[in-house]
Amino acid sequence: MSSFRIAVFASGSGSNFQAIIDHIQEKKLDLSIELLVCDKPGAKVIERAEIANIPVFAFRPKEYVSREAYEQEIVKELQKKQIDLIVLAGYMRLVTDTLVKPYYGKMINIHPSLLPSFPGLDAIGQAYEYGVKVTGVTVHFVDNGMDTGPIINQESVIIEESDTLEQLENNIHKVEHRIYSEVIDWIAEGRVQLQDRKVNVLPQKVN
Ligand code: GRF
Repeated sequence: MSSFRIAVFASGSGSNFQAIIDHIQEKKLDLSIELLVCDKPGAKVIERAEIANIPVFAFRPKEYVSREAYEQEIVKELQKKQIDLIVLAGYMRLVTDTLVKPYYGKMINIHPSLLPSFPGLDAIGQAYEYGVKVTGVTVHFVDNGMDTGPIINQESVIIEESDTLEQLENNIHKVEHRIYSEVIDWIAEGRVQLQDRKVNVLPQKVN
């Protein structure tokens, strides 16, 4: 059993999920993805999990009386699998206290803009339409706001005048796929300290 156990929550294509799977395999890290949680039973991310032999908890939110009700089911699954870190990777739902309280400081999200600019849906399109010259990617802890939790890491992406929206999306996704795995490594190594809104990343230990 790996010493550091991850659950990924996703709703769509799952390219970030795939990048994390590939990173763990390539680097032969002592980390494992023990569960995929998906609110869209037909999503492509589920195929990726099946190929990688990762258990899936797929659910239809409409079949539950409330958000709390399905989150309680999810918490049970997470506890059964002794999950250390929840990684939201394109999970298109706000989470409530049912998940945030037990996992505050142990749940992270990736957002395709330099927060606090352009929170919410279609952040890449929002930045492109606004005409900013620099946008980027943010990895942050999750609280119960929309993309408001303490920031762990950010990387900027320049928008060239000749960039189409599609080029910008590709550039952003490349950065996402690299920095999300880096942050997961830092957390697994115990190097990320959270104090109020400030996040400290300790230097890597030299053997
Ligand atoms: C990513 O851009 C991520 O930043 C956002 O949702 C998108 C998910 O893409 N939260 P994918 O499903 O990982 O391809």
